[in-house]
Amino acid sequence: AVIHRADYRPPAFWIDSVELCFDLDPVKTRVLNRMRLRRNPDQPAQALRLDGEELNLARVLVNGQGTSFKLEDSQLILENLPEGNAPFELEVFTTCAPAKNTKLMGLYVSNDSFFTQCEAEGFRRITYFLDRPDVMASYNVTLRADKAAYPVLLSNGNLVEQGDLDGGRHFARWVDPHRKPCYLFALVAGKLVAREQRITTASGADHLLQVYVRPGDLDKTEHAMNSLMASIAWDEGRFKLPLDLERFMIVATSDFNMGAMENKGLNIFNTKYVLASQATATDTDYANIESVVGHEYFHNWTGNRVTCRDWFQLSLKEGLTVFRDQEFSQDLAGEASARAVRRIEDVRVLRTAQFPEDAGPMAHPVRPDQYLEINNFYTVTIYEKGAEVVRMMQTLVAGEGDPLGRAGFARGMALYFERHDGQAVTCDDFAQAIADANPGSPLARLLPQFKRWYSQAGTPRLKARSHWDAATGTYSLALSQSCTPTPGQPHKDPFVIPVRLGLLDAEGRQISDGLHVLTEDSDTLTMSGLAGEPVPSILRGFTAPVILEYDYTDAQLLILLAHDTDPFNRWEAAQRLAIHRALHFIRSGEHVELDAPFVEAMRAVLRHPTLDSAFKDLVLTLPSETYLAEQLDEVDPQRIHAVREAMRMGLATALRHDWEWVYEQNKDTGAYRPDSRSAGRRALAGMALTHLCLAARTSGDPVWPGKTLQRFKDAGNMTDRFNALAALVACGHELAAPALASFHALFKNEALVLDKWFALQAGAPDHGGNILPVVKQLMQHPDFNLRNPNRARSLIFSYCSANPGGFHRRDAAGYVFWCERVMELDAINPQVAARLARALDRWKKLADPYRGAAREAIARVAAKPDLSRDVREVVTRALAD
Ligand code: ARG
Ligand code: ZN
Repeated sequence: AVIHRADYRPPAFWIDSVELCFDLDPVKTRVLNRMRLRRNPDQPAQALRLDGEELNLARVLVNGQGTSFKLEDSQLILENLPEGNAPFELEVFTTCAPAKNTKLMGLYVSNDSFFTQCEAEGFRRITYFLDRPDVMASYNVTLRADKAAYPVLLSNGNLVEQGDLDGGRHFARWVDPHRKPCYLFALVAGKLVAREQRITTASGADHLLQVYVRPGDLDKTEHAMNSLMASIAWDEGRFKLPLDLERFMIVATSDFNMGAMENKGLNIFNTKYVLASQATATDTDYANIESVVGHEYFHNWTGNRVTCRDWFQLSLKEGLTVFRDQEFSQDLAGEASARAVRRIEDVRVLRTAQFPEDAGPMAHPVRPDQYLEINNFYTVTIYEKGAEVVRMMQTLVAGEGDPLGRAGFARGMALYFERHDGQAVTCDDFAQAIADANPGSPLARLLPQFKRWYSQAGTPRLKARSHWDAATGTYSLALSQSCTPTPGQPHKDPFVIPVRLGLLDAEGRQISDGLHVLTEDSDTLTMSGLAGEPVPSILRGFTAPVILEYDYTDAQLLILLAHDTDPFNRWEAAQRLAIHRALHFIRSGEHVELDAPFVEAMRAVLRHPTLDSAFKDLVLTLPSETYLAEQLDEVDPQRIHAVREAMRMGLATALRHDWEWVYEQNKDTGAYRPDSRSAGRRALAGMALTHLCLAARTSGDPVWPGKTLQRFKDAGNMTDRFNALAALVACGHELAAPALASFHALFKNEALVLDKWFALQAGAPDHGGNILPVVKQLMQHPDFNLRNPNRARSLIFSYCSANPGGFHRRDAAGYVFWCERVMELDAINPQVAARLARALDRWKKLADPYRGAAREAIARVAAKPDLSRDVREVVTRALAD
């Protein structure tokens, strides 16, 4: 049944404390749950309905006595509870089967260890409970298990007691000093080892930090530990938010549905976001670890100390915490240019993943109104668009001496915690606190209208039209906004859109810079006394998550690319130059030939004496096939793929000597350090190699493929090695196959590296339909395992979701493959299956024959009996008109 936000009611009972006792056994784990409950006096008297899923119920006692109960649609219903508001004790004894738990929600086994994942609704798979975030309890947890097989026993909070039991077993008792909702509960048991670090924070408190991994992985935990220490220092420094625990633990597991989980004091992570060594992890991995460790740590305040009232408020913690991790990564990057690179990367994710979501069948507001399965709403809209909404709030509280709004926003955060610490609250509560702490700010003045960003789905379009009156030296810019309907929302009211606007003169010198806030459907800005027609730099820093439409001429874009002081719009100018050309070739069907001004502009960037390597790499990266598809009303994926590949080849050949120069300039980065400057140099060197190998394909020149193979062999770190391998794969050179084989042999015992090996092959540029047969063959590889989400993603998602040229085939074989994998995965892990199901979200935009074939494949999934709720919601929405 569909759950509606408007139906929210406070719970009829409170659970004040929970005593859990686990006898851990992979086949049959016994869970004794003793709760203290009382009726919520503000709600009408009613039966107690506890959530439970896939549990075997053995016993229910109320105040120590047997009682009558019913089991109905995965709820345990108690109708004959003591009357009145006095607390009573409820004891529930159940068993579950962790080894059979392939959904990886609740208690499960991975590599012979026990792990839990309770967000959003996994706790009900461990015991009967009020599984909702507004019920907060104190936890006292005893774990019992075989000592040899499970020497480490962990749960939230402080270890208060441990010891041996008969029969080779032992126990540990943990008490969490903080009350929490059950989605933050966690336990871990297994053969693990920890890197430990003791720290004293600014407030003078001592803490023990631990990163737990499997015994062979200890040498890959230094970066995660450094990232954790940096996170703690950052939150204290920027927001005055201290670590509130004596012990903070991170545990890595290789079977995990998502990235990581912020369980109080016991974060559980996908190994992908913990383990790193220079031999096995790329610069991107290092950066992701820093940001995910930060993200989960920052949840300790934004999510855990103040949590969500209900799951419709998910962005309260996720949007805010993504904003915080983005700011953390920017602050750590240091220099302005490195900060800008981070910002551009974040916007790129938003535009290639969130904008399509907002335009497709799964479009939903940042605070949704309904859902069938909450796991489907851990989306780029809730996370990334949610973060942009928080960022706009910061922008809209800027003031005198606080141009970015940082001080004003920090004041708002302080008020938020002053008001709501220890509570389960809503997005409204958050926005109100930020506004109230900044009276007189645009945010405070416009708050009700601003909050449309929470309630209205869809990406607004911001149109700009300029008018220049040479006679009076007057320049005007007319801004207007619109937003197309999304499912269930035919009409949209105007948004509050902060637009940072700069004006440049014809020589590229800045004339003005300021923030304009558009609140109406349209509005005109006028500037007079200008000597000549200025070039507008609109939406600097991407101050709002909108699609900007302005008919830039090539001449204007070239000025912005060469001179804009705003690095975001400087990059954006290059993207627009490339998009103009790509769309022209896609629409006209003309043979792709790059024009001299474009090539010269790209050459100037590559050869630029002061621009960062990382920035050059971003500028020279053509807009993705997915992003190009979003610019078109009707999509022929093969045509887009062919045009983009031809443009890449054009840049490869026309700039051959420049790529050689760039490679020589950037190829050596000295002893490996994952800092942004040297990472940027490695990225640009890798990009140069790819283009040099591509150019060699047409010229038949063997030198660069040979040099690339040598670099692959000699590389001192995974970034250089992988980039060299990727260059050989990208140009389809015959050296690629032996290099792939030797890569596999080198890293056959490194699961995360094997994931890269699968992903590289499944995501490689398609030549005449060659990728699908490779993918099918790799499904049979002894190292492939559909049950492991990382491995499934590395092969299947890399093909279906990240390789449009390979996936969208005229013979529909890609869709048939997709359909079979969705159904196969659904029986194992519905959450992962539903993610894959979304690969065809945008089917309605496809040209025929793709469109009809895609529809048929989706309908085939939808027709399967006993689909999970997760997949059913995705395919039903996809087929709705
Ligand atoms: N709260 C986690 C994070 O953002 C995500 C957990 C989502 N898990 C899930 N099964 N839906 O860091
Ligand atoms: Zn999160």
